[in-house]
This record gives sequence, C-alpha cells and structure tokens, in this order.
Amino acid sequence: MKHKYLDEIKKLEGSPKIVKLFSNKEIKDILDLYNSLPITVHNKKQNIIKKRWLQNYNKSLDTMYISKLKKVLGEFKMDNLKSEKGEDFFGLFHESFSPLKLHVDSGFEERDIMFKQVVTPLSSIGETVIFKNRWYGKSTSFTIDKNELKFTPEPGQNYRSCEHLGTEEFDEEIYRKYLTHIDINNLRGLKVELVYKWKVGETLIMDRSHIHSSSSNIVNKKLGLTTFTKKKMEI
Ligand SMILES: [Fe+2]
Repeated sequence: MKHKYLDEIKKLEGSPKIVKLFSNKEIKDILDLYNSLPITVHNKKQNIIKKRWLQNYNKSLDTMYISKLKKVLGEFKMDNLKSEKGEDFFGLFHESFSPLKLHVDSGFEERDIMFKQVVTPLSSIGETVIFKNRWYGKSTSFTIDKNELKFTPEPGQNYRSCEHLGTEEFDEEIYRKYLTHIDINNLRGLKVELVYKWKVGETLIMDRSHIHSSSSNIVNKKLGLTTFTKKKMEI
C-alpha cells in the first residue's frame, strides 16, 4: 500500500526537532509509570521489552502528557493502537538491549494522515540515526536478506522491503561510528539527516515518514518512550 493523502502528509513535514518538554519530576513520574505497567512484549530474539502506556494508571500524568504534546504538535490524534476498551494507548515504552535496525514507523492505514513521532529518552546512553530518505508505504523493516524478505507480517507487524535502496555507497566513516549492526549494503543510497544523542530531559520530534534506526552504540540497555501520532482527516 501507499499512503493515499500524500499532499496532506507532506504539507505537515519538517526537520526533526529537539525540545525540552518535561521537568525532572515529570520524567521521574513517567519512569514510575513504566515500572508499574505490565509487560506486553518480551522479544528475546530482538532482546527487547515493550510496554504500552495504559491510561488511568496515573490520571494526572495522562493529562500532563497530552497537554505537553499539544503544545508542540497542535491538534493531533494518537496512533499507538487501542486497548480492548477502545482507549488509546499513549505510547510505547521500549527497553532494548541490542540496537534496532533500519525501519520506518509510517503506520498501516492508507487513508491515515501520518504525522509526528515523539521520542522521549528515559536513559541517557543511546542514539537515534535519522535518514533524509522517507517512506510512504506501511510500517516496514528494511533488509536485503532474501529469507527475511519472504516474511509475512501479522496485523500490526512491520512489512519487509528492500525498495529503499539507492545506488550510492553509504558513507564509511558514519557507518563505522554508528551503524555496524546493519549490513552496509542495506544502507545504499541513504543519507543521514541527524544523529540524535539521547539526553534525558529532551524529546525528539520527527516525521513518521523518516527511515531511521538505533545506532550500534548501546551500553547495557536503552529505555525510551515513543508516541505515534496522526492528523484528523479534514478532507
Ligand atoms: Fe522507530
């Protein structure tokens, strides 16, 4: 699939931004929430623990989070799946012990107007590599592995593709510094827009169409909160 309302999506795009949204106390409250939430996924192969921000564990924190996001994003809708009760999750906590590879979180609904993803580091060692290259299909993990390309995703799982590839070789110096967990041939044609070094107290806001990955530099583990958003259809 390809997103249908490309003009509307592109009108909302811009450079990645780093903002200070949360006080130390608010970050601590978010961490306390993380610790009290149930685990939704423990993927031993990817070495990752995921938890969803469920509403009503801490109502004042829920309200604070939405109002801070509105300050920087304006009007938006959550796009992080919903609970059985139909309530939006407010984000996804990722605790990873090995770096995520090349992917895009562009969503699964072709009629949706994907908007920003908001990444709040909750541990201080980590980096996110954002590429200039963009993707307007479904959420996808990019690979050149023939077997992996045969993967058929369940609903909500990333597609696999190698259609991101260009012809130009990837910059070797950047590769050695940040991306050794990825096959360099899987980075052909990609150019780095920004390497964001995680800092607790900051928040990264970027378009959901950006192809991105973790850097290879993880010490022990990385914990972050990501919220995916979309815009309400006005057409
Ligand atoms: Fe991502």
